[in-house]
Amino acid sequence: ERSREQVIAESIREIPDFPKPGIQFYDITTTLLDPAAFKACVDLLVERYQGKNIDAVAGFEARGLIFGAPLALALGCAFVPLRKPKKLPGETIGEEYELEYGSDRIEMHVGAVKEKQRVLLVDDLIATGGTMAAGARLMDRVGAEVVEAAVVIELPDLKGREKLPSNCPLFVMVQKAGA
Ligand code: PRP
Ligand code: MG
Repeated sequence: ERSREQVIAESIREIPDFPKPGIQFYDITTTLLDPAAFKACVDLLVERYQGKNIDAVAGFEARGLIFGAPLALALGCAFVPLRKPKKLPGETIGEEYELEYGSDRIEMHVGAVKEKQRVLLVDDLIATGGTMAAGARLMDRVGAEVVEAAVVIELPDLKGREKLPSNCPLFVMVQKAGA
């Protein structure tokens, strides 16, 4: 019988040369098409974090929202979207992170996560780690505790794990070769 990790790994479609030549894209839309694989992702997270006094799940736009929201519902905790700039209507707090060319930024609503709260950061994938590290800094700035950062896919060749602060452990479902 296949493990849940195998079911998940086999559900991910690999698209070469997207969005640029030489980049291998790991597409989780095929995971979402397969209810057993999508459920395997959410179940792994729910079993790992239930009973751990999680106050909030924070999911990164766009694909972290898809995995984070069902986790928060199952844990019975808050769900906090971390959005790209200028998407959130209320007062925001943001963190910049470096890209290969230029920089990007994630934002959340002020007050969405409170001091001392125990937070999970959720995304589909960690590559260079810039996105996740920015999420960890954001939680640090509001005085929250990051219990763990969780992703479906890690590209260990890109060493994103090394960019995370020591108080932000990383949980990974499957590893794939980075381009
Ligand atoms: C992708 C992916 C992660 C991030 C990982 O998102 O979904 O969020 O890149 O890369 P990093 O570890 O090098 O920061 P992207 O910013 O392309 O946007 P999307 O999720 O909205 O498609
Ligand atoms: Mg993303």
